[in-house]
Amino acid sequence: MAKRILTLNQISVLGLERLPRDSYEIASEFAHPDAILLRSHKLQADDIADSVLGIARAGAGVNNIPVVECTRRGIPVFNTPGANANAVKELVAAGLLLGSRGILEGSDYVDTLAGVTDKAELNRTLEAQKKQFKGSELYGKRLGVVGLGAIGSLVAEMALTLGMEVMGYDPALSVDAAWRLPSEVKKADTLSALFSRCDYISLHLPVLDSTRDLVNSELLGAMQPHACLLNFARQEIVDEAALVGALDKKQLRKYIADFPSPALIGRKDVILTPHIGASTDEAEDNCAVMAVEQLRDFLENGNIRNS
Ligand code: MLT
Repeated sequence: MAKRILTLNQISVLGLERLPRDSYEIASEFAHPDAILLRSHKLQADDIADSVLGIARAGAGVNNIPVVECTRRGIPVFNTPGANANAVKELVAAGLLLGSRGILEGSDYVDTLAGVTDKAELNRTLEAQKKQFKGSELYGKRLGVVGLGAIGSLVAEMALTLGMEVMGYDPALSVDAAWRLPSEVKKADTLSALFSRCDYISLHLPVLDSTRDLVNSELLGAMQPHACLLNFARQEIVDEAALVGALDKKQLRKYIADFPSPALIGRKDVILTPHIGASTDEAEDNCAVMAVEQLRDFLENGNIRNS
């Protein structure tokens, strides 16, 4: 009998094509699915039918899945670490550039000149105004990378190619990851050493009990006033009330994050994108293919792997 795969989000065709039609049925509604395939749908324990054997997320984080309850019920949960790492790395590169140069402010200003038709007048106005959009270079600045897994290590490599110094911190660094890390990455002994010594700090941690609100008023207070904090990992890692307090006190220059939140929207010292770190065609294809392959290997051979 064909296995029923319940899809709770749109999954890239490249991944779905790996489920042979004679062996699998795919639908967004099934009373008794054999497996669930999803991206960001917030899955509640009660919504997981007794027939479900496995759940696969086409994405890295699994904080939208009740993993503890799944483990209790013996349902393996698969994710796709690394499959969207390049997409996130590239958005972090954009975040660094937005933090160092007056790109957004300059572009907003140019928009205010819509309607000026005389080129000479336009140039005169821009020449007089452009001083206010002056930035500084990333070259020679120090980036602190917190979390040196699939994404953090790519971010570290990228920053080195821009001529930045890189300092890394990861208390859970695996031996494999440590080997892959470029030797130029200096290890910080403590998080507060990293926060106090870096011009830019980029977070690349999952949300766990140990990482929730990890970036608190103490760490924010250790930052240099010109420094920028980038969060393309998860909103919950930063204590939001502490962040607002630190921004108000000008303990850091900018917060650049992929998670809009009412307390932060509209602030001049904050740049927010709508959680688009993994929103590229390539990342969606990679994640879907990896998720489907793991799910098939499990459903057909009983193998449990996470890569
Ligand atoms: C991930 O967990 O893979 C990224 O945050 C993107 C997403 O939520 O899909």
